[in-house]
Amino acid sequence: MSDVMQSTRFTNLTLANRFALAPMTRTSAEPDGTPNELMADHYEAYARGGFGLLITEGTYTDDDASQGYANQPGIINDAQRDGWKAIVDRVHAAGSKIFVQLMHAGAQFQASHYTDQPKAPSAVLPKGEPLSFYGDQTEWQTPAVMTQADIKAAIRGFVQSAENAKAAGFDGIELHGANGYLLNQFLSTHFNHRDDEYGGSLENRLRIVVETIKAVRDAVGNEFTLGIRLSQGTVTDPDYQLPEGESGFRQIVEAARDAGADFIHTTDGDVRRAAFVEGEKSLADVVRDAGGVALIINGGIDETSHPDLAAQYPDALLAVGKKALANPDFVQRLKDGKEIDDLDFAMLQPKATLRNELEWRRKQAA
Ligand SMILES: Cc1cc2nc3c(=O)[nH]c(=O)nc-3n(C[C@H](O)[C@H](O)[C@H](O)COP(=O)(O)O)c2cc1C
Repeated sequence: MSDVMQSTRFTNLTLANRFALAPMTRTSAEPDGTPNELMADHYEAYARGGFGLLITEGTYTDDDASQGYANQPGIINDAQRDGWKAIVDRVHAAGSKIFVQLMHAGAQFQASHYTDQPKAPSAVLPKGEPLSFYGDQTEWQTPAVMTQADIKAAIRGFVQSAENAKAAGFDGIELHGANGYLLNQFLSTHFNHRDDEYGGSLENRLRIVVETIKAVRDAVGNEFTLGIRLSQGTVTDPDYQLPEGESGFRQIVEAARDAGADFIHTTDGDVRRAAFVEGEKSLADVVRDAGGVALIINGGIDETSHPDLAAQYPDALLAVGKKALANPDFVQRLKDGKEIDDLDFAMLQPKATLRNELEWRRKQAA
């Protein structure tokens, strides 16, 4: 086994090992977005299961249009901050670090406690259909086009949420710039048809990303870990590619780094997948080659692929999604040489809630 189980430095943090829990939405907060005991049990299980770092599910950032799913947690008020603090404390007591993922849904909007009206870069629907395991909606709603005042307000939401996250004791923040949510929508030529300085050229499309990183960095200070998750594909269009190809993706990575991101978290169907029409490079290769920024890789990491990936990206954290859901003690099982289960999607049916998972586990145990 490689050094993947050794304690490691990541930005200015010390982690027990190089395995991270990938962010995964579970729509199990209170209806008003307050994190609860069930969620604390859930996150603590991954900390006890040996993950050096946990990244939370996408957490909404304002009371306007950032929430995308019913029972999604937020971090916009004192009650939500305190709910998260209880979770952070449990995770720390179990020996792991934890980042919050800050997410604005944009056009990928299914339900909200605050509004019926999504807002997005342009009045464009996501491809495909809403995700049935996050709610009963069967059609996307046409979003209102964000004004420049809306863009500034959304950035303020990220800033306020980042301040709450720091106060809650989180070890860092991951901005959600992947999978077709708001920041990713601005980067995408499918979603972004704007003709102002937030649309058109890639430099314009990534303006909101740069402004958000700079604003959050100013608010949390230089010592607090801040990064961004990036992908090309979205939850309903996994093969979308930037028209600017590899050089465009590198431009985004460098802009994020230069704006103050400490890390980039790449996600793709498979970490090793050639990500662009030209050449063989994966998203992770582009970040590694750009340099000057820490790396988290995600996509298809399991008990078989992890040693090669750990060697190929020697300084990266390895974020695990589905295999972690199936095995909250994935890291401990690897250490003990125990069998790793595959994810049975019945665990997340009919909705991806923690209650359904508990019910599924009870039936399995019976
Ligand atoms: C139930 C579920 C919920 C997810 N929710 C999020 C999320 O909130 N934020 C995010 O960035 N990715 C989310 N993802 C994507 C995962 O973080 C990860 O990128 C994906 O599962 C691929 O990694 P894997 O091959 O290790 O599973 C979710 C995935 C699943 C299965």
